[in-house]
Amino acid sequence: MIVNRPSRIRASIEVPPDKSISHRSFLFNAIATGTATIENPLESEDVRSTVACLRQLGVEIDWADGAQAAMVHGRGLHGLDEAEDILDCRNSGTTMRLLSGLLSGHPILSVLMGDEMLRRRPMARVITPLRQMGAHIQGRKGDTLPPLAIKGGALGGIDYASPVASAQVKSAVLLAGLYADGETRVAEPAKSRDHSERMLRSMGAELAEGPASVRIQPATRLEPLSLRVPGDISSVAPWLVLGACHPDAEVSIRGVNVNESRGGILDILTSMGADFELSEERTIGGEPVADIVIRSSRLKATTVGGALVPRAIDELPLVAVLACFAEGETLVRDAAELRAKESDRVDAVVAALGRLGAKVTARPDGFSVAGPIALHGGTVDGGGDHRIGMLGAIAGMLADGETKVLNDAVGVSYPSFWEDLRRASQ
Ligand code: S3P
Repeated sequence: MIVNRPSRIRASIEVPPDKSISHRSFLFNAIATGTATIENPLESEDVRSTVACLRQLGVEIDWADGAQAAMVHGRGLHGLDEAEDILDCRNSGTTMRLLSGLLSGHPILSVLMGDEMLRRRPMARVITPLRQMGAHIQGRKGDTLPPLAIKGGALGGIDYASPVASAQVKSAVLLAGLYADGETRVAEPAKSRDHSERMLRSMGAELAEGPASVRIQPATRLEPLSLRVPGDISSVAPWLVLGACHPDAEVSIRGVNVNESRGGILDILTSMGADFELSEERTIGGEPVADIVIRSSRLKATTVGGALVPRAIDELPLVAVLACFAEGETLVRDAAELRAKESDRVDAVVAALGRLGAKVTARPDGFSVAGPIALHGGTVDGGGDHRIGMLGAIAGMLADGETKVLNDAVGVSYPSFWEDLRRASQ
C-alpha cells in the first residue's frame, strides 16, 4: 500500500469491535449451558481462527459473513468433542493459549498448531502452569514452542505466580481453574487486561480479584453471556496518534472501550500533553465505553514503564511514532514482552521507523526515541505483523513524501483499516 501525508485530516471513525472480547465471547460461550447472541463480533482473521477451532470441537456457531451478530450454542462445561484433525490457530496467540486452558479440562486429545509466526512464540508460559494442574501437555523444542499436544483430564487447583504480566496466561489458568478440584489462584507482576474476569463473573463463575491476582473456584455450570462487543482501543490507537501528530487534524472516534486495564495509551497521551477529551461515558458489554475527540497537539517526551506497560502493550509500537513528534527523549522500558509478540516488536519498530528517518534505539526491554524529527517517506515492511503494518501506515501519513507499506497483515485485527484511512484523508 502507498501512503502520503494529507494536508488535513477530519475524520469520524466507528471503531472495529474489540479483538480480545470477541475471542472470549466465542470461547467462553462454547462451554456455557445454553445459547448466547454476540452482537458486533470482530470479523477478523484471528477471531475466525477461534471460531474454526471451536467448530472442530463440536460447537455449533451461527455466524454468516458480514452478519451483525453470531449465535453460539454452548455445549456445557464438559461438552467439547475430540477434534478429528489438528486445530489451526493460524496467527492467533490468544486462540492457542486460551484454548490450551480450556482443553486441559477435557479428557480428549488435541493438537494445536499455528502459522510460521505463531510457531516461534513462547508456549512454556502456559505449559508450565497447566502441567502443574495435571494436564498432559507437550510442545516442540523441549516443550517451549507450538505445535502443542494436549490431553486434559482431572485437574487440581494451584497457586501460580506468573513471571510475565499476560492476560493470555492468566486466562488459560483461570479457564483450567473452572475444572479443578479446588481453588486456583493466579498472580502476575502487574495487572493485565481483565476481560476474562469480567465475562466469567457475568456467566456465574466465582472469582475474587486482588490488585494483580485472581482466585477462581471450580464451576459446575456457566450461564450463556449475550453481549454487544465494544470498540477496540488497540484499533483506535492509530487514529489517536495520527490526530495528535498531524499538524491539521481533528479525529472523533465513537464507542471506544476505555477499560482501565487497557487504557494505558490514554495515560501516555496525557503525559505527552495531547489535546483530547472523552465524552458520553457509558457501559457496553460489561465494559466502560466513551467517545473520544483528538486534535493536533504539541507533544513532549515521556517515560513509559512498570505497571503502565501491560495496560498499553499492543500500543507501545505506536508510542514510538508519537515520540518522533515530541520534544525530548522518550523512553519505553520494562517492555521485554514486546519481543514475544507476533514479531519481535522492539526490532521491528526500530527497523520500520529507522527507514523513515526516526532516531530510535533498541534496548533489551524497549526502546528510546529522540524527538522531534521530520520523518521522510520510505519503504516499511510490516513483516506480517498487523501492529507493525499499521505503524508503517500511520508514520507514512505523517512523513514527507511517499511511503510504501509491505506485508501489512491488518486483516488480523482491523480489516477495514485501509478503507478508513483513505476516507479520513479525502
Ligand atoms: C491478549 C493479551 C495480550 C495482547 C494480545 C491479546 C488477550 O497478550 O498482546 O494482543 O486477548 O488476552 P499477552 O497475554 O501475551 O500479553
